[in-house]
Formats: sequence, structure tokens, C-alpha cells
Amino acid sequence: MFGSSTRTALAAASLLTVLGHKSAVMAQDNSNAVVVDGKTFVLNGDNVSYQFRVNETSGDLLSDHFGGSLDGSMFDAPPVEALGGWVGLNGRFRREFPDHGRGDFRIPAVRIRQSEGYTVTDLRYQSHDVIQGKPELPGLPATHGGEDDVTTLVVHMFDNYSSIAVDLSYSIFPKYDAIVRSANVTNKGTKNITVEALSSFSFDFPVEDLDMISLNGDWAREAHRQRRKVEYGTQGFGSSTGFSSHLHNPFLALAHPSTTESQGEAWGFSLVYTGSFSVDVEKGSQGLTRALIGLNPNQLSWQLGAGETLTSPECVAVYSDNGIGGMSRSLHRLYRNHLIKSKFAISDRPVLLNSWEGLYFDYNESTIYQLAEESATLGVKLFVMDDGWFGDKYPRTSDNAGLGDWTPNPERFPEGLSPLVQDVTDLKAGNTSTKMRFGIWVEPEMVNPNSSLYREHPDWALHAGPYPRTEQRNQLVLNLALPEVQDYIIKVIADLLDSSDISYVKWDFNRAMHETPSPSNDHAYMLGMYRVFDTLTTRFPDVLWEGCASGGGRFDPGVLEYFPQIWTSDDTDALERVTIQFGTSLAYPPSAMGAHLSAVPNAQTGRTIPVTFRGHVAMMGGSFGLELNPAELHEDEKAEVPGLIALAEKVNPIILTGDMYRLRLPEESNWPAALFISPDGAQAVLFYFQLRANVNHATPWIRLQGLDPQAKYTVDGKGPYSGANLMNMGLQYTFDSDFGSEVVFLERQ
Ligand code: DGJ
Repeated sequence: MFGSSTRTALAAASLLTVLGHKSAVMAQDNSNAVVVDGKTFVLNGDNVSYQFRVNETSGDLLSDHFGGSLDGSMFDAPPVEALGGWVGLNGRFRREFPDHGRGDFRIPAVRIRQSEGYTVTDLRYQSHDVIQGKPELPGLPATHGGEDDVTTLVVHMFDNYSSIAVDLSYSIFPKYDAIVRSANVTNKGTKNITVEALSSFSFDFPVEDLDMISLNGDWAREAHRQRRKVEYGTQGFGSSTGFSSHLHNPFLALAHPSTTESQGEAWGFSLVYTGSFSVDVEKGSQGLTRALIGLNPNQLSWQLGAGETLTSPECVAVYSDNGIGGMSRSLHRLYRNHLIKSKFAISDRPVLLNSWEGLYFDYNESTIYQLAEESATLGVKLFVMDDGWFGDKYPRTSDNAGLGDWTPNPERFPEGLSPLVQDVTDLKAGNTSTKMRFGIWVEPEMVNPNSSLYREHPDWALHAGPYPRTEQRNQLVLNLALPEVQDYIIKVIADLLDSSDISYVKWDFNRAMHETPSPSNDHAYMLGMYRVFDTLTTRFPDVLWEGCASGGGRFDPGVLEYFPQIWTSDDTDALERVTIQFGTSLAYPPSAMGAHLSAVPNAQTGRTIPVTFRGHVAMMGGSFGLELNPAELHEDEKAEVPGLIALAEKVNPIILTGDMYRLRLPEESNWPAALFISPDGAQAVLFYFQLRANVNHATPWIRLQGLDPQAKYTVDGKGPYSGANLMNMGLQYTFDSDFGSEVVFLERQ
């Protein structure tokens, strides 16, 4: 009853649209990165096309395609199919930016409450612009690139009834098959409006079976990959903790059920944001699947006065027909080259020793120096003094006091930090002439009630009127939405870095946000935090900054713009780490992962794993380090450490710059393996693990990927062997016990 007449009407209307605009208008640089044909828009990458159009009758934006490259003839293809069904047409279309309240009962990409109380919006196409390059996102982290790297299409939409304008911004990085979208909402009327929901990316997939893949976990169990079938109805995840969190990462992949690591189509959506977020996947009654990713609507309620604008964070969407591995590699390359701004993005990551698991809070000037001295003997190049060095009136000798008071503890450091920093930076690493560098831990977004700062500024801590301020780890969160708090943090950290030769900062964040003054405070906090990150990293570009949030609680692209590496997890058990690091690599480049060799039995799991396996797992991270007290190592372990450091230094340039192939996954195999190939293909390093002994059973061959089949390679100096043989037949290694590992070096002849 509802189906047939509307279908005919729509077909006629859309056909007219197509016939009316036959000739393609190429983007200004004459590339085909953005092609506009009348009111059909196509973004083209090397292996991807993304197409949508304006419905000429209604002015709504309709989605056509996000997948393999189109050749242009799609413009003459039959118009959008009008499905039959009970809901109105809007609910049956594939909509490019679904607004709320006009008969589309799926989750909207935008919901705005007007002063009268309506939440209906009626956004219609108005005009568009094509821009070479990519404009910055005001106040938010974002991918960047020059005119040769990226082209941007901005589509302007307008609601005539409310005078609300929305600009959808699409940037295509053709070499990465990546489309980056953000949306901004401007109140062009005279009365206040409230933005209640705003997605950065939304896409309606055609009818096809899809799986969704996400990264879930908890503290010390981050980034566990979960794959499930997309079912009818809604399914999703997100964070309402005020930060991206350990619980769910702001990343979603969709793939066909038959897609594997190396074959099939996969789509990745990665939100460049550190705050609360939400991901929704909804398979509607007609079988179309909508994917939405953006700000968490429960923590938005963003009021816009006349003339004001809210800009969403951006979401990077990549497409691959080379499986999930191809999707990851596109994201890795894009993030290494066009997100991480630090000069250390792909270079110079000194092997470090972090004091946390070795000494925890229990140190003073002489014991911490002793630790640095022992580290230098082993060949460590950067010594990091973790938590416990500060607090004057309320010394930080446990997690009960001191946060907020960033002055050295006078009992532990009577002359301040300078003498220690001087002594440590006078040390030489191993038998080399390389001077040791000094790094320090801070957690500037927090305050302990036991601190001078809290005594002076109780109102700076997040709180909701009279409600009790719930402490977590004995601490409260400072409200970075307040400019005076931002300025305080900038000043104390800048003073600290100016005070002595500190070349590395580990920036920690150890609790969630509750009792906030308003839902919108969450996003305001993020804008304030990004201002602090931006100011400090711009002022101290020579400092190597590491992000941390009780491990990988803020492993997200927002942090990566400013900090080139992130502490991946507080779980340093190497078996757990294989899963965590492989999982994290789904969206993030290995160059960004901090990974340390720690003592056994492991502090988190009580497990004892051989030092070689522990070292091999850790050197898959871009920032390799030790986190132990060398004085407590067994003699045979201690003897192995310098060799492991040397190996880590040898493979590190390939880890930092290369392409990663996850050859076998830890959740699927007893023999997980990964291959990293340098950008020029001349060198590669294979990491191959046996988790458990497999008595009287053959071990599988490991078939490599990504090599040149015609080229010859040496394998740990042996061979040469052809790329074809290494990929089609592979290599075999056998181990006779639990936790066997090999790091194998390949060189093209
Ligand atoms: C949590 C971090 O993840 C640890 O590495 C360590 O820095 C502690 N905080 C210190 O309090």
C-alpha cells in the first residue's frame, strides 16, 4: 500500500536530477579527488569512492556508495531505490546526514532542541564548496595535510523553519583511502537552541550482512577485539566516563562475515576525540545498516546562542578491500603522517627505564639516582622518574596526597630536582658516549583533597553543587573547562620544564569524571584540555610527550595529535600484552605504543614468563623500555637485557615507520605472529610467538605477507629466499616449551 506509488514518483524525480547535470565538474586541482556532477558528489581515493547526492525534489542528502572505486558511470545508474514499507520515505532511504523528527525512526545524526521545545529539524542542501587542502577544526585535534595531500568538500545545509545551518565537511586523503568528516551546527536564528546529539560520521550501508568489530576492556585489560554479527535493531557502545576510556575505544570496524585479516572488504571509523563518545549501529527493518559515531548525546546538551557554532570532532573513515589488516595499515599511515604533530612521530625513541614498577612511591634522591645508574649500565638512554617526586606540605609518598602541588618534595629533594637531573644527564648509556636523558611523570588534570591547591581552590575541582565529591584513587578531577585552571596547569608544567633539562614527560590521568556541573561540561573540558596540550607541546617541541591514563585509558587519536606515544596498558604481563598490543594495532600505529619489559612474577598477573619473550613482545611497541629494578633481576636475566636492548634498537626504525601485517591473531592461534615491513620494502622484521607448549604436535608454517614476490630476501642472514616462497610456503620455527619467541630479520637483496 505504501510502496508502489512512492517508488515511481521517486524514480522519476531522481532520474531528472541525473539527466539535468550530465557533465562532471572536476576539483580545482584537476585531480578527481572531489568530483561534483550537478548535485552528486564523489570523493575518490586510490582504491575508494564515496558518493552521495541531493534529492532534487526534497533537498535531502542521500547516500549512494562507500566502497571500491567507481569509474564515473555511476552518475547514470538507476536512481536510489525506494523501498516499500510502513514508515515514511525518510525512514526507508539511505540518508547521508539523518536529522530528527521527519519520519526516520532510526537513530539520528543530529538532534536539536529549539527554544519552543521542538526537536524536529529539516536540513536541506543549500550550496557547497570545494577547498584544496583541509581547514583546521577550531579548538579540536584533527588530521592535517597540504593541497597535494587532501581535498575538502563542504556541503552547506539549512533548516528554513528554525534558521539552523549545518556544514558537513568531507576531506579525502586519496593515498590513504581515508575520508574525514565533521559537522558544525550554527544558530542563525535569534533564540537559543540546544544541540542534544551530533554525530561526526554517519553512513547508511546498503542491505548486506555485516559484522561489527570493536575494542573493549577495562583497566589493565585494554583493547580486546570483539567481533559480532550486526543484528536487526540497535547495538552500540561508547564512553560516558568523560574520557575515551579503557572500557570501549572510540573505534568501529564493519566487515563482511567472510572478511579476514588479509581478504575482503572492511570499513574503519576512528573518532579523533578524547572525551565521552558514542557508537551506534542500527539495522533497520528494511535491512539497511546505519553506523554513527560522535559525541555522547548523554553528555552534550550544548546551548547555542544567536550566531554561535558547535563543531563536532572529526571521524576518519577508511575503506579496504585487503581485509582488516589493510584497513589498519591505512589508519596507521594516515596517523603517522597526517595526525601526530610531534617531531618524534616516526623517529628517535630512546630505550627508557621507568621507575614505577621498580620502586613505586618508595624512593628519594639517592635511591632514584641509583636506579638511573643501574639503567645506564644496562644501556638505557632515557631515565623516567614516575609518580612520587612532588608535594611540599602534602608530600606524595602514596596515592593519598600531593596531586596539584607540582613542587619537588623537599625531604626527598632538598635542593630541588636540578642536581638529580644534572647527575642523571651526566651518565653515559652502556659503553657508549650517549648521554642519558631525563624524563618525568605528571598528572596535572587532578588534585588530591590533601593538597595546598585544593585548600586554595576547592571550586576548581569538578563538582555538582552540593552533591558529595566522590573520590577515586583519593583524587578529584580539576575542571579544565575553566580558563583559570587551564592557565594554572600551563604555568606549573612550563615552569617545571624550564627548571631543568627534562626531555620527556609522561602525562597521566587516573580517574573518571562524575558529578560534573552540567552535561555540556564534558565537551567544554575537552576543549580546555586540548588548549593546554596544544600550548605546552607547541612551546616545548623538543620534549618527547607520552600520554597515559591508568595505562591505555586514553589511547585515542585526539591524544595522538599532541603526544606521539601512549602507555598502552598497566598490564605489563607479556602474554596479556600480545593481545592488548595486537588489539590496539587495529586502529593505532605500533609507533604510538609504549611497551615495557617488567619483572617476574608479573605485578598484575603473578605470571612468570622468560625474559626473552617479555623483551620480544615489548619491542613490537614504538617506545621500548624497561620497568623494573635492575638490582632485583636474576643474574641470567640481567645478562640478557643488553642484547635485548640492542635488538630493540635495531628493529625500532622499522616499527616506527613500517607497515604491520598481523599474520596470526592471539585470540585465534597459539602461534601469533606479526610482520613489520619498512616503507621502502628493503627490510622486514618478523615476530613469531608460541604461547603454550604443544607436546608431540607439529607447529604451523607462518606465511609472510606484503613482500615482493619477485624479490629475494635473506632471513637472519640465511638464504636468499624468494618473496613468493616466503609468502606462499612460509617459514617454520619450533619451540619446546611455553612462551617461545623469535624475532627474525629479513633483508631484500
Ligand atoms: C598509572 C600509570 O598507568 C602507571 O604507569 C603509573 O604512572 C601510575 N599511574 C602512577 O601513579
